[in-house]
Amino acid sequence: MSLRITSFEQYQEVYRQSVDDPDGFWDGVAREFVWQRPYDEVCRWEFDTPDVKWFVGGQLNITENALDRHIPTRGEERALLWEPNDPKVPSRTMTYRELLAETCRFANALKALGVGKGDRVILYMPMVPEMTVAVLACARIGAVHSVVFAGFSAKALADRIEDAQAKVVLTADGLNRGAKQVLLKPIVDEALAQVGCVQHVVVLRHLQAEVNMVMNRDCWWDHCVDGMPDHCHAVPMDSEDLLFILYTSGSTGKPKGVVHTCGGYMVYTAYTFQNVFQYEPGDVYWCTADLGWITGHSYIVYGPLLSGATTLMFEGIPTWPDAGRFWQVCQKWKVNQFYTAPTAIRSLMVSGTEPVLACDLTSLKVLGSVGEPINEEAWHWYHTHVGQGRCPVVDTWWQTETGGILLSGLGGLSPMKPAHAGLPLPGIQPVLLESNGQEIVESNTEGALCIKHPWPSMIRTTYGDHKRCREVYFSAFPGMYFTGDGAKRTADGMFRIIGRVDDVINVSGHRLGTAEIEDAINAHPAVVESAVVGFPHEVKGSGIHAFVICPDVGRDEADWQVEIVEVVSREIGKIAKPDRIQFVPGLPKTRSGKIMRRILRKVAEGQTGDLGDVSTLLDPSVVDAIIDGADRFKTGR
Ligand code: WT7
Repeated sequence: MSLRITSFEQYQEVYRQSVDDPDGFWDGVAREFVWQRPYDEVCRWEFDTPDVKWFVGGQLNITENALDRHIPTRGEERALLWEPNDPKVPSRTMTYRELLAETCRFANALKALGVGKGDRVILYMPMVPEMTVAVLACARIGAVHSVVFAGFSAKALADRIEDAQAKVVLTADGLNRGAKQVLLKPIVDEALAQVGCVQHVVVLRHLQAEVNMVMNRDCWWDHCVDGMPDHCHAVPMDSEDLLFILYTSGSTGKPKGVVHTCGGYMVYTAYTFQNVFQYEPGDVYWCTADLGWITGHSYIVYGPLLSGATTLMFEGIPTWPDAGRFWQVCQKWKVNQFYTAPTAIRSLMVSGTEPVLACDLTSLKVLGSVGEPINEEAWHWYHTHVGQGRCPVVDTWWQTETGGILLSGLGGLSPMKPAHAGLPLPGIQPVLLESNGQEIVESNTEGALCIKHPWPSMIRTTYGDHKRCREVYFSAFPGMYFTGDGAKRTADGMFRIIGRVDDVINVSGHRLGTAEIEDAINAHPAVVESAVVGFPHEVKGSGIHAFVICPDVGRDEADWQVEIVEVVSREIGKIAKPDRIQFVPGLPKTRSGKIMRRILRKVAEGQTGDLGDVSTLLDPSVVDAIIDGADRFKTGR
């Protein structure tokens, strides 16, 4: 199938049509898929509750569209390529026919464990083909998958298992990450000691590490799959049945389970994959994300497979065994579309261009960026050295909640401007709003980025708490989906994302809520209170600066810092570790007790010359102490 737009003029035309007649436009796209029962209505929606339904009354199975549908035309073509962490370990490939058979076998194994439609299955796994198989196997039988990034701690895993009330956990003995190995099964055991809902754990042997198996609960992956038939009926799913839950951080409270449903997610991820990356049959596409994030779901697994593409999965990291790893992999597999995060590019820039120039990158056609604003320097390095000045860079803006890319160029068709995500995809109607809700029409003026019309893969609810979904996304600007980002628009309609306007920090393209990190720090018994803000960081985009009140801190400050870092690793995971911990005598609070983060952000940025109005503070003198204490962070930045 091809849903691909092939010229800029066509994009403009299609875009106009998608705004004039959204239902007609999406109906045309959705017709390309296999529906077990046709839908009666394209879209029914209101943004107050909110209540959004796409392809109402239709029935489908996403794996039938991602796998079975391709068998007659490309059954023997490569669906999945796998590149291991260690270049000396053999790589693996699976054709569409093989991937379908493996998916069916594992789906039958899940059924044998008692998993059925609507049951939640947690995946806590290394980046290996079995993870893709397991995701698809869940979808095959209508089970709801929820992948938890394997860098999260036992506590964070337990929270997600509990919230999802998962019946089964899929894991492995451990994973490889560069020169390191991480044992996963002990983390799962620790998490399961805290929750009661899980009946079975399926364990993949990946490291050949010693594993403790719990009788009647744990079983080996191989044993479960052994003897299972390689056919499995694709369970009919209503368009609005749950496909998956993916947890993500917000500005308040615990991470929330973003819910995506079957029909709309299928249509949108396939459509955007083919257009943004200008994928052509036979191309090899590589997205370096982990399946623990939405990028992996939409643009390693679903979008590419729904499009009959060859998608590469990578277990390793950009800098091991050396800083040439990405480019060696591109050369080895003759990668045509390469999709990564600005933080990865910045981490490689420090090693210079030699590792890039050492590889034959002539296969590359399109370069993608995702996860955070790409700074101009990184953009130029990527474009000039990796893309040899001839590959377009698509700066794709989207979110866990949007399910797919909303703002981006389409391969080389669209105008391109460093640091600008660019134009909206067909069907996407973005607006910039002032804080009073007034729409900003003039160009180059920052506003809150909102979307005024639904699109098929948008968030439907936050799992088990619909009120939270309304409050977070649909109440700041009534009648609109609020993204949490601030943005500007050029005169020719290109969007530039400025960054989050809420208390969310983007660390190396990963989203972390300040409240969540503060809760973790406060779990240390000696901590009275803390406040966390982001600060500009050369490689990570944002670093984490923690202001901590800890009255007993004396000469042993360094020990306390280590303990606080440990507590955060235990509560959330290493990705949330503060880069700086500053012990303070107090926090800048208003008379009503609200922390003025604006001041803390300025201090963390080293911009203490202009702190704005501090007269409303309960005790303005704490500010001076905080500024003094922050002095030591000024060097080496
Ligand atoms: C937040 C969403 C969507 C996949 C990865 C992140 C930021 C994402 C861009 C971009 C500027 C970006 C936004 C957004 N973001 N892509 N191309 N330019 N900012 O998903 O964890 O849900 O985070 O990432 O701030 O709101 P996520």
